Parts: sequence; C-alpha cells; structure tokens
Amino acid sequence: MWNLFEEGSVALVTGGARGIGRAIALELAAQGADVAVNYRGSVNKAESLKEEIEAMGRRALIVQADVRERDNVKKLFKAVKKEFGRLDMLVNNAGIIKDGYLIMMSEESFWSVVETNLGGAFRVTQEALQMMCSARRGAIVNIASTSGVAGQEGQTNYSASKGGIIAFSKAVAKEYAKYGIRCNAVAPGFIETDMTSAKGAAETLKDKYMDLIPLGRFGSPEDVANAAAFLLSDRSGYITGKVLTVDGGLIG
Ligand code: NAI
Repeated sequence: MWNLFEEGSVALVTGGARGIGRAIALELAAQGADVAVNYRGSVNKAESLKEEIEAMGRRALIVQADVRERDNVKKLFKAVKKEFGRLDMLVNNAGIIKDGYLIMMSEESFWSVVETNLGGAFRVTQEALQMMCSARRGAIVNIASTSGVAGQEGQTNYSASKGGIIAFSKAVAKEYAKYGIRCNAVAPGFIETDMTSAKGAAETLKDKYMDLIPLGRFGSPEDVANAAAFLLSDRSGYITGKVLTVDGGLIG
C-alpha cells in the first residue's frame, strides 16, 4: 500500500508530545513524513516520541517552545529550517482549557486560553507560511473543537478560541490558496486524553454527553490523527477552508 506522503516531506506538530498531537505525529511518520515535534514541558514524552518515529525509519526533531512567546516560535522555526530545510505540513495542535462559568471567569482564564489556542496558531502559522510561500506548496491543519463550532457550556473562553481558529483557518485558506497552500480545521468532539481526564467542567460534560454520541463511544487520538493526515495529504487536494468534525456524530 502507498503512503500518503512522499518520502522526505516534513511536518511540524505543535504540542505534540502527548495526546492528540502525539497520535498525529506518529500517523504522519507512519504515512511517510519526517516530523518535527514541538513540546512545552513534557521532555521525557517528547524524547520517547522521537525514538518511536525514528524506529519507523523517519527523521524526527523535538523542540521545546512555548507558542505564546514569539521568540520561542522563532527558535522553533530556526531549528526546523536547520534540520530539514523545508516544511510541507503544519498542525497547530497546542491547546489548553480553563473551564468555568462566564459569570465568574477571570481575565486571566479568558485571555490565557485565547492567547495559547488562537494566539499560538497565529504566530506558528505566520512563520510556517514564510517557508511554505517560497516553496509554493503546503498544507495546514488547525485543531479546533466542536466547542468552537456549536459552543459549549462552561467553556466560553475555549469556545471563543476554537471558533476563532475556525474563522482563522478559513481566512488563511483564502489568502494563501494562490501560493498552493491549503488550510483546514479538524474539530474533535470528546477525545480521551489528559485534557478530558482532568477534573472540572469538561469531566462533568463528558459523563453528560456520552449518551448523546450516536456512535456510542468517546473518540481516540488516532481518530483525530486519521482525519488530520487526510487533510494534509494530496487526497484532499481540492479541499480548503473547511472544518471536519470528528465527534461520533455528536453535533449537527
Ligand atoms: P493535551 O493536554 O494532552 O495536549 C495539549 C498539548 O498542548 C500538550 O502537549 C501541551 O503541552 C501543549 N501545549 C499547551 N500549551 C502550550 C504552549 N503554550 N506551547 C506549546 N505547547 C503547549 O490535550 P489533547 O486532548 O491532546 O489536546 C490537543 C488539541 O486538541 C488541543 O488543541 C485541544 O484543544 C484539542 N481538542 C481536544 C479535545 C479532547 O476531547 N481531548 C476535543 C477537541 C479539541
């Protein structure tokens, strides 16, 4: 069977040491890509991921960087350029939640979520486009959320950040299509990762929404990785500016 990606093609996944990002990095490597993985704090997990990717016969680079900081993002791209000299695919996956009801939400809870989820994608995409525009080729997937499509109680900050990511993806798609660059969003529903196992509103919502998922199960990181790989590959060559929900049928 053919791989989805040409040998030597390079992908960057932000926040990729664990959860959905890790599954995406592994799927892209399994499908033929060399992978740069950005992580914030999970150095051991990042190192074990590098080993897993290399065991598949692909090249791997791990770079510590906080996507909230412009100089960190610059350092990340410097490392990617030095190691690979090209960038074919970008996955903006880094994200956080700070759930709570709006009426009691602090400025910090609101803006730190927007700053990480949307601001991070802004900075990383800007740098990636510089590499992709000169190559006149590239594919970007931004990890949004069903909360950003449909809105979610207890997650006004997160929903706003992810709704922003969706609109951002559509605008990037229109602005950079002429450079041969496609940009789409994947909107996962409830996926079993560290994020959803944390206590808080998301945990309560998880119990509540299980009954509402037509496919009768929570998603896995691999479910999201498969969708991301498709949208990064030439198999989706005529799809840009779209949102693919991966939610077991949860939202309409
Ligand atoms: P996770 O908490 O396991 O992974 C998030 C990753 O982002 C971590 O590796 C973390 O270190 C990294 N990160 C956070 N802030 C960062 C920063 N400032 N700079 C660099 N990296 C940073 O959670 P999960 O579930 O794997 O989430 C991945 C993405 O999927 C997130 O964008 C999340 O919002 C999204 N998502 C998750 C869903 C779920 O049910 N788990 C549902 C919908 C969307």
